[in-house]
Amino acid sequence: PSLWLVVPAAGIGQRMKAECPKQYLKINNRFILDITLSRLLDNAPFKGCMVPLNPADHWWPDSESSQDDRIQSCTGGKERADSVLSALHALAEQADESDWVLVHDAARPCLHADDLSNLIDTVSEHPVGGLLAAPVSDTLKLADDGAPPEVAQTVDRSRLWRALTPQMFRFGALRAALESCLENNQPVTDESSAMEFSGKMPVLVEGRPDNLKITVPSDLALAEFILGRL
Ligand code: C5P
Repeated sequence: PSLWLVVPAAGIGQRMKAECPKQYLKINNRFILDITLSRLLDNAPFKGCMVPLNPADHWWPDSESSQDDRIQSCTGGKERADSVLSALHALAEQADESDWVLVHDAARPCLHADDLSNLIDTVSEHPVGGLLAAPVSDTLKLADDGAPPEVAQTVDRSRLWRALTPQMFRFGALRAALESCLENNQPVTDESSAMEFSGKMPVLVEGRPDNLKITVPSDLALAEFILGRL
């Protein structure tokens, strides 16, 4: 089966409080989106790549990626899951149901090449698919509903993981799972949760915790530091 790439980039990045969406902030004078896409495309054999964009996006034409003939773009949707689904629909004529599709956040430029290849190697042998994830290192507290909240309980973290991207699933199964969640108003914040809602349990592949999703302003300096050491 072939491997396809979807990089959702249709978010507006409200928490970043910047004048443009966070995927268009620059690190070392390159758009974050361009760094993310080249890390992926230069390190794995993708058959094609689809990037769902916000309808109001006017930065894309200035990106390196828009000039790269390996990359196609389409219109994204209201939530991340809508954007991923619209990318799958845009690829539907080219991809087979049993092909693999790898989904990675535009805002995660610090992906290590060996995490990417570990994920692809492990998931290729798995019946459902899987995701990069990192074991939780902080002690976790469950809060009560007070204001301010007090600790209700300390949670056992030994089996808790943070879900990262990339996440990799069969093309047809992922599309069906996302459609079913959207029809059932089931909240989906990643592809894995859509599969789980269909009763299909993905494999967790341990990835480096420094594969951070740029979310708040201080993440930019951290990402620049990590990228310098990749
Ligand atoms: O907002 P958050 O950090 O969870 O977004 C994760 C990724 O999903 C980002 O790359 C963002 O551009 C993308 N996204 C999208 N369509 C949306 C919302 C987010 O493609 N409607």
